[in-house]
Amino acid sequence: QMTRTASLKAFAKLNLGLRVLAKRPDGYHELRTVFQTISLADRLEVRLTPSRTSGVTVFSTPEIAENLVEKTCRIAMQALKISAKIELHLEKLIPTGAGLGGGSSDAAAVLLTVPVLAGKRVCMEQLLELAAQLGSDVPFFLRGGTALGLGRGEELYPLPDAPASRALLVAPDVHSSTADAYRDLSAGLTPATLPSKLSSFQQQTWNPAAQFANDFESVIFARHPELARIKKRLLRLGASKAVMTGSGSAIFGVFNNPEQLLKAREGFAEAKTYPITFLNRARYRSSWLRALQPHVKGDQWPPQSLYAQ
Ligand code: C5P
Repeated sequence: QMTRTASLKAFAKLNLGLRVLAKRPDGYHELRTVFQTISLADRLEVRLTPSRTSGVTVFSTPEIAENLVEKTCRIAMQALKISAKIELHLEKLIPTGAGLGGGSSDAAAVLLTVPVLAGKRVCMEQLLELAAQLGSDVPFFLRGGTALGLGRGEELYPLPDAPASRALLVAPDVHSSTADAYRDLSAGLTPATLPSKLSSFQQQTWNPAAQFANDFESVIFARHPELARIKKRLLRLGASKAVMTGSGSAIFGVFNNPEQLLKAREGFAEAKTYPITFLNRARYRSSWLRALQPHVKGDQWPPQSLYAQ
């Protein structure tokens, strides 16, 4: 049987703002967030060979304990009624436990690629449903660009592209657990703070120059004071805004002056730093279509397989 291969980039995200409103009866928290895809990416090679029995093999550097991509392959094959051997080679370049959505992006990458290589037609609704089962941030990576996230983050609406920005991403060696962060934050949630949170979040979506806010900063900074110092230092070194992404621990500073950004980078010897740019929706999708090019027909989104009947 013939093996089909695709090499692609699974991009990271930032939360340009993140407000946690209340705990819901299902245990998840009601959010308001603005997602943004960025240039930083994991590298993924997917090799698919049709076969009577299914199997998934994952090679990852560095190795990661609980790999969402393997589960994603199994769920995707089952839902799409595909049987194949899938081999994944994953080069993790996005720091993990940092609020950058690396694991979620890898999972979304598998959802976009497997049907194309297997010759299965797919629609957005089906992919979104699978994505939401895998994690709250996975559906966003099927959309890309700048998007408003409501509910637990899986209810998505397009926003106008955020101004093309350069940022310095600082990822200290702090692994933040999302579930723990929500638990810590939950205790302090009161209805009294809701109106002011909502109005400041609205302000941000209407005015891209407004300051960003992330409700997780208070609980995460309390546990890791060095993160508050990183935020302060970014602002002192010339960032127009500096905020933590997701439930931490990475902090990004937006710089209007690229030279100032590179100069600021020298001030963070103790952490990994990444100069990044925002990736708008059109560029996100064209990067995907280019990566899958030999296997897709047309320029539809989600990408459609050339081999589909
Ligand atoms: O959906 P995901 O698996 O990424 O979520 C991880 C954990 O984070 C959940 O089990 C839940 O405890 C918490 N969470 C939450 N509210 C959200 C998203 C995640 O409480 N909106």
